[in-house]
Amino acid sequence: MELIDLLLLGFSAVFLALWWRSSVSSGKSNKLPPGPPGWPLVGNLFQVILQRRHFIFLIRDLRAKYGPMFTMRMGQRTLVIVTSPELIHEALVQRGSVFANRPPDSPIRLVFSVGKCAVNSAEYGPLWRTLRRNFVTELISPVRIKQCSWIREWAMENHMKKLQNEAFENGYVDVMDICRFTVCSILVCICFGAKIQEQWISDIDSITKEVMLITTPQLPDFFPILTSLFRRQMKRAKELRKTQIDCLIPLIRSRRAYVEKGENTGSMMVSPVGAAYVDSLFGLEAPGRGRLGEEELVTLCSEVFVAGIDTSTSVLQWAFLELVVNQEIQEKLYREIVDTVGKNGLITEDHVEKMSYLNAVVKETLRTHSPAHFTLSHAAIEETQLGGYKIPTNVNVEFYIEWMTEDPTLWKDPSVFRPERFMEGDGVGVDLTGTKGTVKMLPFGAGRRTCPGLALGILHVNLMLARMVQAFKWVPTPRFPPDPTETFAFTVVMKNPLKAVILPR
Ligand code: HEM
Repeated sequence: MELIDLLLLGFSAVFLALWWRSSVSSGKSNKLPPGPPGWPLVGNLFQVILQRRHFIFLIRDLRAKYGPMFTMRMGQRTLVIVTSPELIHEALVQRGSVFANRPPDSPIRLVFSVGKCAVNSAEYGPLWRTLRRNFVTELISPVRIKQCSWIREWAMENHMKKLQNEAFENGYVDVMDICRFTVCSILVCICFGAKIQEQWISDIDSITKEVMLITTPQLPDFFPILTSLFRRQMKRAKELRKTQIDCLIPLIRSRRAYVEKGENTGSMMVSPVGAAYVDSLFGLEAPGRGRLGEEELVTLCSEVFVAGIDTSTSVLQWAFLELVVNQEIQEKLYREIVDTVGKNGLITEDHVEKMSYLNAVVKETLRTHSPAHFTLSHAAIEETQLGGYKIPTNVNVEFYIEWMTEDPTLWKDPSVFRPERFMEGDGVGVDLTGTKGTVKMLPFGAGRRTCPGLALGILHVNLMLARMVQAFKWVPTPRFPPDPTETFAFTVVMKNPLKAVILPR
């Protein structure tokens, strides 16, 4: 590099640092919220990396210093972090349409979203509206949920056998592993209308896990301009995308042959034509894209696995940790189950909806162990204001939804796991969707981009929890004592996955 280049680089760095300082440090309506001063060019990125602790802990420190809303500059991206329930409610619900956009995808995410062709990543506009409407009608409408209940029956039967076998072989069960497999097999059948070999389900599950990990923010995401320098990550992402395509396209083609020609090779197809999610995608006219190609179908079906497996399974795992540690809560739940259906009666989907203690246990798990600390990244559709500060369209707006569940002004003894609070106490009438006004917990987000899978996710968790507690008493194993230490994968998971002994009731 020539001396003149060095001088120019240094000059630009100083200029950028001064510009950044002036844009975040003072004033209101025409300024971004305040935030920690950054370094030239990289902003706060290396300060975050050098902390050597998870981003969440830094966010908590910054909240204490800068208040409920602050700005961080991470390389080329600017993040506005919103942490107070009032501001979150204002942005997501009261002014939902203004904050309903998504920021640009990172180069790696673009590989998997085929240019933002998924409900979660599409920009707020006609494509998103069509995809989301189709998702809701074809996947999670009450009619569809009822129509697919036989899939859960079949999967639960296998699930209970697997639990028994694993307990027999190892003396304990790995809750997360076994639940992941069952949730994945349900979602595969809902999407493709097919019952497939166990190995294929396991492959879909492991590819899903890898996709989630590779698409979580990494260094190249903050410097899209330097993507070519991160060739190794991009190469790995493209290889993984090919594996994903090779795994799912045979299923899509078999389903198409069944729908269009009535062919059913290997009798794999079990749902009637029109009852699988992918059936609706074959004929969908997507604004700006026309008929969807096979790659787009892979993306839209994978989105169901990415969004639906880890979240529901993580809630189940945390619920069982609490039940194993708090035997009196487990007993109370078991008593409710026996009072509702008897010791050996079949627990149906209608039953779980009405079991108030079961629902309280699930809500308390969502409150104390929300799978997501943040919603997905949002963006404003036009320059606007929030809390008196400017929010331009090109910043990521990050809603820190977990914070409010720890707030002692909203919850009594927030760190205590007490399902009863949802029956008599500070949790009574709490609205999970934010539509009723005040918000105290929003594990599914709120407003236009709220999780459309809420009802399905809760149903899977309720049903699996109730059936597993009806059949077995869950106790800790002395070899692997329950350990609530958290780690941050795509969702907030246990560092040491829960293992428990199961005793037939
Ligand atoms: C306990 C289970 C679940 C939790 C806690 C959860 C949580 C969330 C959260 C926090 C968001 C982000 C909302 C935002 O950006 O404002 C989200 C979005 C989404 N979730 Fe879920 N989710 C769960 C289950 C599911 C299931 C089972 C499905 C699918 C079958 C699903 C599909 C989606 C989709 C497609 C989006 C993107 C919505 C959009 O951008 O319009 N989720 N979820």
